[in-house]
Amino acid sequence: MDGEALSWGHMAKVRALKPAHTLKAGELPEARIYVGDCCEVIPSLPERDVFDLIFADPPFNWKRDYDRWGAGGAWDDSQATADYLEFTYQWLDLCIERLAEHGSLWVNIPDTWAAEIVIHLKQRGLKMVNWCVWHYRFGQNTNGRFINSKVHALYFMKDPTHPDRRWNADEILEVSDRRSIYGDARTENKRDGVEAGHRLPMDVWYGQHWGRVQGNNKERRHKHDNQLPEVYLGRVIAACSNANDAVMDPFLGSGTTGVVARAMGRRFVGVDFAKLNAEHAFDRIKAGPVRSLDHLKGQSTAIHPQRRVPRVPAPTPEPGV
Ligand SMILES: C[S@@+](CC[C@H](N)C(=O)[O-])C[C@H]1O[C@@H](n2cnc3c(N)ncnc32)[C@H](O)[C@@H]1O
Repeated sequence: MDGEALSWGHMAKVRALKPAHTLKAGELPEARIYVGDCCEVIPSLPERDVFDLIFADPPFNWKRDYDRWGAGGAWDDSQATADYLEFTYQWLDLCIERLAEHGSLWVNIPDTWAAEIVIHLKQRGLKMVNWCVWHYRFGQNTNGRFINSKVHALYFMKDPTHPDRRWNADEILEVSDRRSIYGDARTENKRDGVEAGHRLPMDVWYGQHWGRVQGNNKERRHKHDNQLPEVYLGRVIAACSNANDAVMDPFLGSGTTGVVARAMGRRFVGVDFAKLNAEHAFDRIKAGPVRSLDHLKGQSTAIHPQRRVPRVPAPTPEPGV
């Protein structure tokens, strides 16, 4: 099955770029991976403006070798600021062009570039729905300033009031602090339409399995050091798309977006500059997620009071005292 054989409903008859990896015919939902610069690949995709959800975790221009284990030819991650921003605005604009009118665009980005991206998206007329923060505990240690422990998860739409907006609140509910910490009866009898004792997640994301994917983390893929946790993509995809919707990730990396999208029954298109990343991502997409995707559904992320500090034994009195 190649790109031209796919039917995305209202796709235009354009000469399609050939994907590097596709699932075999009949292996639904479909998933296609392209290798190349997303600024060249996206305009050559056969679809026209049909992505219900786009999730982008771009290179941060932090001098990373994204093809460290590959055959060379990694993306230049040490560009002059002006060049990096030009590239950033270009891929953002291409994503906007391909985003459905009811669609959602998410960008995972550190402090370094969050402000520029937010301003650009606003200037393009997109509306910010949430500025979420992914908080993790294992930041890079520093002495001269506060340790970074977050990345921004920016949630934008063309039209948040669109009648076809995807917003599946029930899929992402958490047990409220009122239930899990305070035992407050009001949460059991609330009338906001949300399940008793539950609420939507807050805009700072953390908790079990939300840490950076490092060390001996079960999710960790060999030869990748920029992997996002599956729960992160689980939350975004469950909330902002429906089964059989089209999801796109222009910076696939180890493939987390594709893994979760496919496991949740979404169609998927991914792009990566590095051939080896694309190969590994495709293997991972076929293998599926490491953990069941609803294993955390309905749990609490309450910050519990600290456990009591162990008592220090009293000093032994000196002889003769
Ligand atoms: C931050 S990583 C993405 C990690 C991914 N979210 C995950 O969970 O594994 C960025 C990826 O973008 C790829 N990349 C860099 N520049 C690119 C470009 N111009 N077009 C497509 N992919 C690019 C890199 O090879 C790298 O794999």
